[in-house]
Formats: sequence, C-alpha cells, structure tokens
Amino acid sequence: MKRSAARAAALIAALVLAGCGSGSGSSAAELSVSSAYMPQPVSDSMAAGFLTITNKGGTEDELTSVTSDVAGSVTVHETVDGTMREVDSLEVPAGGRIRLASGGDHLMFEKLKRKPLQGEKVTVELHFAHSGTVEVEMPVESATYTPDNGN
Ligand code: CU
Repeated sequence: MKRSAARAAALIAALVLAGCGSGSGSSAAELSVSSAYMPQPVSDSMAAGFLTITNKGGTEDELTSVTSDVAGSVTVHETVDGTMREVDSLEVPAGGRIRLASGGDHLMFEKLKRKPLQGEKVTVELHFAHSGTVEVEMPVESATYTPDNGN
C-alpha cells in the first residue's frame, strides 16, 4: 500500500517534469520575405518601401524595428483615411502574412544618406521580436512601378 502510493507520486513528478520540458508543442515562427521593392524616390530625403512577410511557423512574431544602409531612420507607417502615421510594431500572425503595399502599410525611409536609383539595391534589416534580424536586398524600381501580382 505504502509502496504503490510512493510509486504513484514518483510517476506524477515525472509527468510534471515532462510537461515542463516539452513546451506547448507549437513550432517557432518561420519567416520569409518576398516581393520587396522601393519605387525610386522623387524626394532627396524620403523614400517608401514595400514587401510581404510570410510566417510559416506556428508562433506569431512581431516586426519591432527596421534599419537600412541608405537611411538615417526607417519606420513602419500605416495609412488611415489617406493619412500616414507611424506604428510601433507590426504583428506577423502564425501561419499568416502581412503585405506592405502602395496605399497601405509601408516602410518609410527618412534622412536618406544618398538617393536610391532605379536598378540599384538597398539593404534593409528587419528586426523581429523572436526571429532576430532578417536582411533583405530591396531592388529600386521606377518611380511609377506597381507589382503585377495584384492584391
Ligand atoms: Cu509614410
């Protein structure tokens, strides 16, 4: 009687430990970036950038900041009723994707160190809460370029 109680207690302890170690069972965020481009800026000081971030993992992630070699400051903007405003971060849902596109969310490059020209590539580092830094080579397209992959 006493022995089986002790064995049951040991078994429960083992189960609790296993439960602690195995986590929730969902996979980590798995990010990829596609369709990145920057329209050649009209301004000497500001440019916009667009891209799509896909998360194939089972955990959400968050774009917390952006840096680039061509700009002193890169921020994430959303467009609400035609007015741009800065957002602190952008959530990338598990198994989902976010699309930064003309007329909507976009990257805002300010304090340009040089003016990006069509045919060049701009290096952009996307910093995520869980996945660390993802580096993107963003091609500079014509000022009027629109991607033909629709919405
Ligand atoms: Cu903007």
